[in-house]
Amino acid sequence: MTTHARIVVTRAIPEAGLELLRQAATVWVNPEDRPLTRQELLAQAATAHGVLGLLTDRIDADFFDAAPLLRGYANYAVGYDNIDVPEATRRGIPVSNTPDVLTLATAELAFGLILAVARHIVAADGVMRSGNWSGWGPLQFIGTELTGKTLGIYGPGRIGTAVARLSRGFAMAIVTCGGRRPNEELVRDFGARALAFEDFLATADVVAITAPLNPQTRHAFNAEAFARMRPSALLVNTGRGPIIDEAALVTALGEGRIAGAGLDVYEFEPRMAAGLAALPNVVITPHIGSATDIARNGMATLAARNLLAMLEGTSPPTCLNPEILGRP
Ligand code: DGY
Repeated sequence: MTTHARIVVTRAIPEAGLELLRQAATVWVNPEDRPLTRQELLAQAATAHGVLGLLTDRIDADFFDAAPLLRGYANYAVGYDNIDVPEATRRGIPVSNTPDVLTLATAELAFGLILAVARHIVAADGVMRSGNWSGWGPLQFIGTELTGKTLGIYGPGRIGTAVARLSRGFAMAIVTCGGRRPNEELVRDFGARALAFEDFLATADVVAITAPLNPQTRHAFNAEAFARMRPSALLVNTGRGPIIDEAALVTALGEGRIAGAGLDVYEFEPRMAAGLAALPNVVITPHIGSATDIARNGMATLAARNLLAMLEGTSPPTCLNPEILGRP
């Protein structure tokens, strides 16, 4: 076990992960409740043997240049669009993410958003809080029933599959689009049909975006895509914000081209597109998909185990570039 290693944690994570790290190394944790600035990140990286960082930390060639002692980087997230993995691989630096431990938490939030949008739960809550409710009315807050409708999973990986499993109680038909390989579980257990993007858009009553951000998915949901969706369709995004052209979404929602949206992620976090928050048919949460005690503790211990393995030169449990392990 490395005893003289210095580990940098770019923002406080649950204690379970920090404890593991402290048993093996000297650990510096960002004392502020905010991400490090770029300058602070590079300054800390200069003397770090290992860095445990966030989805908001850009891990690229400049970062690696600034970190001559670095033997590994562990992302505290399953999504890793913030890491230049090929660059890390070229330099022989292992990098990791935190899959599986946050799958259920994120899928449950996606389903919560679907229900909240379908039944106007947040707007209705607002009326109660305002003290302006005049009593039961036959035409108030008429929403969409999910049972028997078609759920479209865009990016049917671990989280998308978990969203489909949660839809079982609503007897929803499943269609999918994208993903690295056909999703055997969804085909076998749900009779899911994998559709080309245009057919997918035209078929789904509810679209759940659970894809990673990459050049293929960036702005996949743009004005053209919204024009192909059903006017009654609901769109929920718990993947990454830039998969949606957010300004185009505001226009589509405002013009009634689609019926509603539930968003947990944004194109330019922490900002939102102008006009989004003023729309009545959106539910917006601040990137809390993995924010449960089980998921966040699981992420902390998995990221810590990954980083310690990198420092010890053993196999990290969820390495993104395992091909470099054992390379001299
Ligand atoms: C992730 O893990 O990629 C989420 O966006 C944060 O939990």
